[in-house]
Parts: sequence; C-alpha cells; structure tokens
Amino acid sequence: MSELIDPALPKVELHLHLEGAASPAFIRGLAKEKGLDISGIFAEDGGYDYRDFWHFLEVYEAATSTLQSPEDFRRLVLAVLEDRAEDGVIYAETFVSPDFCGGGDLGAWREYLHAIEEAAEQAQNTMGITLKGVVTCIRHFGPEKARPIALCAAETKGDFITGFGIAGDEKMHHPKDFAWAFDCAREAGLRLTAHAGEWGGAQSVRDALDHLRPERIGHGVQAIDDLALVDRLAEDGIVLEVCPGSNVFLGVYPSFRDHPVDRLREREVKITLSTDDPPFFRTTLVQEYETLARTFGWTEADFRSINADALKAAFCDEATKRSLLDRLTR
Ligand code: ADE
Ligand code: ZN
Repeated sequence: MSELIDPALPKVELHLHLEGAASPAFIRGLAKEKGLDISGIFAEDGGYDYRDFWHFLEVYEAATSTLQSPEDFRRLVLAVLEDRAEDGVIYAETFVSPDFCGGGDLGAWREYLHAIEEAAEQAQNTMGITLKGVVTCIRHFGPEKARPIALCAAETKGDFITGFGIAGDEKMHHPKDFAWAFDCAREAGLRLTAHAGEWGGAQSVRDALDHLRPERIGHGVQAIDDLALVDRLAEDGIVLEVCPGSNVFLGVYPSFRDHPVDRLREREVKITLSTDDPPFFRTTLVQEYETLARTFGWTEADFRSINADALKAAFCDEATKRSLLDRLTR
C-alpha cells in the first residue's frame, strides 16, 4: 500500500516518556550487562508483554529498573533520539522522572541530568533534533514523593528543563494532592502539563485544570464526554497532547475510528500528536500519521497545521521556536 503522508514530514512531538521510549532490545541489553533477570516482561516475539494499563505500569517500572546510572541515560537519550529522527521529528519534549534518576535526591538528579543534557546536545549536533525535558512526578507514588521531585525541577529549571508534569495511575489520589508540587514548579517559572482524561473520565480533566492549572493536558481525550468541558478547552486554548495509538493499544478506545481526536479537532480544541511510549504500543509517529490519514481523511495540510500548533504550545524559548518554524514550513 502506498503512503498517504510523506514519512519525512517534519514533526513536533510533545508527549514522550523517556524510559517508555526505550526499545525492548535496548532494555534487554542493559539487563544482560547487569545480570538482571527481567525476562518475564517480554513476549515470545521479543516485544514488551502486559495485560492492561495497570500491568503496563508494572512492566514499565521493571524495564526502567535496568537504567541505573547517568551513563545508562546518556545511551538511552541517544538511542531514543535516533528513533525520533527516523520519524522526521525535529523537536521533541520528553518526560523525565527524578524518581528513576537517583530516587528524587537532588545531587544524584543533577548528575543524571548532566548526562541527559550532554546526549541531547550531541543529538542536536549530529541529528539536527532538539530535545527539551519536562520533569514528571508519578501520581501513584503519592503526593509526598512528588514534593522532592518538584524541588528537583525548580532547582534545575533552565535551557533544557523547561516544564513540569504528572504521569502515572490517574485513579490514584486527587489532583489537589499535587497542588503544592505544581505551585512550586509554577513559581520557579516552569511550564505545566498534567496527564488527565486518559483513564479518569472527563471529571479528571476538570479536576486537573482546576487544581493544577496546566496549559497542556496529557491525553485529555475523555473530555469528549462533556461538551461544556470541550468548549472550555477550546476557549481557554488548553492544548491536548493526544496519543491515539497508545489509547487504542491500551483499550481506552476499541479502534482509531472510535477515537475522539477528530471530533475534538472539529470542536476547535487544539490537539497535538505523540506516541507516549512507542515500543510499548508497537507504534511510531510515522505509523500514527498514516493511520490517522486513512481513518479520518486527514491530509498533509492537516498534519502541518497540527505541527505548527504543537510548536506554538512547546515549552521552549521563542528563538528556538523561530528557527524550528522555518524547518517546519519548508
Ligand atoms: N507513564 C508512562 N506512560 C503513561 C501513560 N500512558 N499514562 C500514564 N502514565 C504513564
Ligand atoms: Zn503519557
């Protein structure tokens, strides 16, 4: 079947978990080097294996347990950015969790971050791809653990760390429990995003907006069940980081056809497109574009417009945006 969308189309990807973008081969390699037995997380074909979203989070954390040093993260960033560059991504933001980089200790986090930033700079020079980091607390680790994570974020805000967010199991705790962490990050000048409306229903999006006041929502797709909320998202210019393949693979929606991304767009909500944890969902950004084009009849012009919106919503400085806009519209 011939392609509908040029795979080389320049892309902006705002919703990507760093550890979640590690290929099974990369994680298997680290496990072997360290003598760790994590064979239970892989299927016969070598891919990640899990039953549902909650099991996915367990498998994700088992895979992440092989990442034990700044050097491991340096190698991870390079491997992940090579994959992104192959998809035509010119700008990406990645969620990175001090929980997995030294357990929330600020001194350790600085060392991990140094290695991550060095790798990002190398990728910028060799692959022409720009990466920024969004420090992310993990909801199911609880609000007490989120505080040191927010402090890590506030202390290391800079050219690379530009945002703060929350991921993890939306059914655990309430957004208001994380208001302190978000206030801390906001006061430090970080831009804010929060996972909501992936599993938690439309009300979870309202709660995240009311208590955390983010400018972007990770997923947010279940807002479609509350049209007054959809209007609020559109009017307030809240940007959704939509990951259709992730939602379909995890069973939030049975198929792309049932996914609300097209309806959200029709109601003038600003949406962006990402892969979330691509090897876990056996997807790539090129594949996502192709499936969306086939399902909804979206054209290259639609994807160009979505990427321009993503760049506007990016958590980077204006000079970076200007130089990327040139490449995006070429
Ligand atoms: N962490 C990694 N992927 C995630 C997802 N899809 N939802 C919530 N937390 C996550
Ligand atoms: Zn996510």
